[in-house]
Amino acid sequence: MLNHPLPRIDKDEKLRKLLLHYCRFKEGTIWSDNLNKHKIACIDVTDKDSVKKVFRRAKTKLSVQDPPYNFIAFSEKRNDDFISWCKKWVETNIEISDDNSSFYFWLGADQINHFEPFAEFILLLKDTGLTSRSFITMRNQRGYGTQKNWMAIRQELLFYIKGKPKFNIKAEYTDIPKVLKGYYKEVGGTVTENTERSKSEFIRAGNVWIDIQQVFYRMEENVNGCYAQKPLKAIMRIIQASSSKKNLVTDFFAHSGTTLIASEILGRRCFTFDNDPVFCEITLRRLENFRKNKKTGWQNSNPFYDEIINDKKILNHLKKNYNITYSREKK
Ligand SMILES: C[S@@+](CC[C@H](N)C(=O)[O-])C[C@H]1O[C@@H](n2cnc3c(N)ncnc32)[C@H](O)[C@@H]1O
Repeated sequence: MLNHPLPRIDKDEKLRKLLLHYCRFKEGTIWSDNLNKHKIACIDVTDKDSVKKVFRRAKTKLSVQDPPYNFIAFSEKRNDDFISWCKKWVETNIEISDDNSSFYFWLGADQINHFEPFAEFILLLKDTGLTSRSFITMRNQRGYGTQKNWMAIRQELLFYIKGKPKFNIKAEYTDIPKVLKGYYKEVGGTVTENTERSKSEFIRAGNVWIDIQQVFYRMEENVNGCYAQKPLKAIMRIIQASSSKKNLVTDFFAHSGTTLIASEILGRRCFTFDNDPVFCEITLRRLENFRKNKKTGWQNSNPFYDEIINDKKILNHLKKNYNITYSREKK
C-alpha cells in the first residue's frame, strides 16, 4: 500500500496556502464538465445569487447536504449563528429544487450541549414547508467518549421531501443476507415465516444503517487531507433511493466530492460547491482520477502527490511538522 498521507488541510493554514498554488479554482470559479454535464463551483452557498448563477433555470431532484455542522469543525460559530447561517442556504436549496424533490441533511448533535444544533435545525425545517419523511441513523465504527458515557457512534441523517418525489424501495436493501427465521404469519390459510413472504433474500436498511464502513486509510475511496468524508456507499444508497438516471443531484458542501463521484457512477448529473478552492480542486481531481484509473480515492496516497513529490517547501513542511516523508512511486 502506498504511504503518502496528508494531514487535515483545514487545520494547517500553511499547507493550505502551499496547495492553493496547484488549484485551478479561486473564489467564483465555475467548472463545467463536457462529458456528463456536472458542475463544480467555488462559491459561498449562503450567497443566493452565486448559487442561482450556476443553476440558471435547472432544478434539482435531490439534495444531499453535509454542512460543517459539528462542534469540532464549526467551533467558531455559536448555535444561533449556525442556525441563521443554515437558514440562508436551506432557503436557496428549496428554491433551486424541483416541485417533486428529495432532501437529505447530515447533522451532528452535541451530546454534552443539549444535542445542539439538532433540535433547532428540525425547527428551522418545520417553517420551510418541506415534509419530514425519516430520521436515519448511520452507525460509525469509530466513536468518542467511551470512559464515562456511551460511545458516540451515531451519524444523524434527516430525509425531507417537497411535493411527491419518487422513492425506489429496492435501493433500500442491504447486502446482509436474511438468516434469522421467524415472524410466523398466516397467509391464505398457510403458516409462513418471514423469508418465505419476503421479496428479497437480504435485509432492509430501514432507518438504521449498520452495514456501512466508515472511511479510513485502508479503503480505496479514502481521500487524505479531508476531515469529513462520507462513505460512498451511504451516498449511493441515497441517490438510488431518491433519484432516477440522468436526474440532477446537488451537494452544496463538496469537500472530498463524494456526491459527485456517486453521481458519476450512477449516471446522474451533479452540481456541487465548496467555498474553499482546495476542496473544489480535490473534488475535480477525484472525478478525473476515477475516469482515468477507475479508483474512487487514493487510499493512503493523496490527490496532490505528483506535485508534492517535486515541491521542496511542502516536503520540508510535512517532515518538520508531522515527520512525514514521501518516497517516489514506481510507475
Ligand atoms: C462536512 S464537509 C462535507 C463532506 C462531504 N460530504 C464529503 O463526503 O466529503 C463540509 C464542507 O463544506 C465547506 N463549506 C463550509 N462553509 C461553506 C459555505 N459557506 N459555502 C460552501 N461550502 C462551504 C467546507 O469547506 C467543507 O469542505
